[in-house]
Amino acid sequence: MGGGKLSSGRASQGSIPLVEEFTQSVSYDRVLYRQDIAGSKAHARMLAGRGIISGEEAGRLIRGLDAVLGEIESGVFAWNTADEDLHMNIERRLTELVGDVGKKLHTGRSRNDQVSLDFRLYVSDRAGVWRDLLRALVSVLIDRAEEHADLLMPGFTHLQPAQPVSLAQHLLAYACMFLRDTERLSEADRRIRVCPLGAAALAGSPFPLDPHSVAADLNMHGVFRNSMDAVSDRDFVLEALFCASLVMMHLSRLSEDLILWVSPAFGFIRLPDAYSTGSSIMPQKRNPDTAELMRGKCGRVYGALFSLLTVMKGLPMTYNRDLQEDKEQFLDADRTLSLSLRVAAGMMAEVGFVPEKMRAALRRGFVNATDLADYLTAGGVPFRDAYRMAGKAVDEAEKRGCGLEDLPLDFLRSISPLIADDVRDALSYERAAARRESPGGTGPLSVQRQIADLRRELATG
Ligand code: ARG
Repeated sequence: MGGGKLSSGRASQGSIPLVEEFTQSVSYDRVLYRQDIAGSKAHARMLAGRGIISGEEAGRLIRGLDAVLGEIESGVFAWNTADEDLHMNIERRLTELVGDVGKKLHTGRSRNDQVSLDFRLYVSDRAGVWRDLLRALVSVLIDRAEEHADLLMPGFTHLQPAQPVSLAQHLLAYACMFLRDTERLSEADRRIRVCPLGAAALAGSPFPLDPHSVAADLNMHGVFRNSMDAVSDRDFVLEALFCASLVMMHLSRLSEDLILWVSPAFGFIRLPDAYSTGSSIMPQKRNPDTAELMRGKCGRVYGALFSLLTVMKGLPMTYNRDLQEDKEQFLDADRTLSLSLRVAAGMMAEVGFVPEKMRAALRRGFVNATDLADYLTAGGVPFRDAYRMAGKAVDEAEKRGCGLEDLPLDFLRSISPLIADDVRDALSYERAAARRESPGGTGPLSVQRQIADLRRELATG
C-alpha cells in the first residue's frame, strides 16, 4: 500500500496532529474489533454469494480477517491513530496481509453502514450481558426474600412508617423492577439487532447486494428498510441507554434504601466491611460509600442518554460525523452499569438484616393503626369515626412511649366499648401482614406465590 490515509480521496494531504487527535476514534472504537471483523467476513461471503467477487477471493479475505483478529487478540496489532478509526486500521492491515484483494472488501459498503452494523452488534452483545447481570441480581434478591419471608418491618409512604410488610415483600419489589428491566432489554434488542449493511453510504448500492444473507449470517433479527434511515439513526443506542438509565435508577433507589437502613436512625441492616468505608477523622463512622457511589453513578448514565439525545437533535439527514460521539458515551454507561450490577448483586447477597431494629420501628411507627380502625369498622363503626378513634389511641401510645398493642384494654375500651380481647389479635403485626393476602400483597401466601412466579420467569425468560 502506498502512504497516506486509506480514505484519502480528495483530502489527500494536510493532516495535522491536533486535528488527527480531535477526529480520531480508534483509541476507543477498537473495542468493536470482533464485531467489525465478523461483519466484514459476512460481507465478503455475501459478495461471493452474489458473484460480485469470486469464492476464492472471499476465502482469502476471510483468512486474512481471521489473521488480523489473531493479531489483535494476541496484542501485536499496531493500532495507528493516523488511520482514524478501527475500520481503517483493520482494512489497512488486511491489505498488508493479503495484498490487493484486500482492497475489494469495501465493495458495495461504506463506513456509514459498516459502523452502524458494528455498533448494533456491540450494543446488542452488551445488552445481553446486562440481562445476565440483572438476572443474577434478581436471583440474589429472591434468595434473600425467601430467607426472610417471616421478617416484618414497617413499609413506608412519604418515608413515614405506614403498614407492616415483610422484608421479603420489600426485596421482591426490586426483583420485579429488575426483571422488568430484562424484558425491556429483550424487547429493545429486536430493534437493536437489525442489519444496516447494504445501505452503503446512504442511497444503497448499484451492486446486487443481499442484506438478508448478511443478517442471517450474523444472527440478526432483520434488515433495514430504508438506506438513509439505516446510516443516520442511532435510536438503537438511545434505547439501550434509556434501558440502562432505568436500571441505574432502580439501583439508585435500592442504594438509597440501603443508605437509610444502615444509618443508626434506622439500623435495619449491617453492611459487610467490604462495602463500607471508615471516616478519616470520625472514628465511629462506617459509611455506605458503595451504595452512595451507585446512587451517584446513576447521573453518568443519564448523562450519556442526554448527551446522545442532544447530539442527535439537530442533525440533517443522513450520516454526520457527530454520530461518532455515540461511542464513548455508550462505553462509559456500559462500564458503569455492568460494574454497578455486579457490585449490587454482591452487596445484596451479603447485607445482614437486624430483626430487633425492624421490630422496634414497627412499634414506634404505630403501623397497626389502620388495623385498629379496620377492627372497629368491622364491628360496625363508620370508617371515618373508627379512623378518629384509632388516632386517639396513637396519641395515647405516643404519650406512654409504647406500641398500640401495649395499651391497656381498659384504655382502648374507653375509646370504644366495642373493643374486646380479640383486639390483641387485630393489632398483632404478624396478623396485620398475614391478613393482606390480596394478589401481590404482603401476606405470606402472596409472597410465596410471587417468589414462585419470579423464579419461573427467571428460568424461562
Ligand atoms: N468513526 C466513524 C463513526 O464512528 C465511522 C464512520 C465514518 N464515516 C465517515 N463517512 N466519515 O461514526
